[in-house]
Amino acid sequence: MSLRPTASEPQTLSIKSFLEGHHRGLRQKIDHIAQSCRALPADQMMIAESLAALQVFAATHFADEEKLMDDVHYPDRGSHHHQHRHFLDLIRDLQTTVSQDGLSDGMDVPGQIAAWWEQHSVIHDRALVDFLCRGGI
Ligand SMILES: [Fe+2]
Ligand SMILES: [Fe+2]
Repeated sequence: MSLRPTASEPQTLSIKSFLEGHHRGLRQKIDHIAQSCRALPADQMMIAESLAALQVFAATHFADEEKLMDDVHYPDRGSHHHQHRHFLDLIRDLQTTVSQDGLSDGMDVPGQIAAWWEQHSVIHDRALVDFLCRGGI
């Protein structure tokens, strides 16, 4: 199966659906973190576990997305990969902080994660999908 889809190929739609399914899963994990952070009293282990689940899910999704970008020679893949690394570092740092110190006043864990995700999905992942829908280079 070619990974150089064109807009007329059903494969483009299946790749788009595949990415959208992953993105829905990521959004659910982020929502779960927000719920964990709203619980009173705050349960730092529950928040840390939610962050760990997001880390695993995101790492798997990013690996799949990066393989796709490499396979289709996506021109912006270097910077896109870098964004993914940054997110995984952010999640790891938040997980370490929450596990060791709990939630401190003013620490907006879901806000930080959601801000990155909204920006990444709207700009970078959408650009990838648009590239795929145009049939690549
Ligand atoms: Fe991405
Ligand atoms: Fe993605």
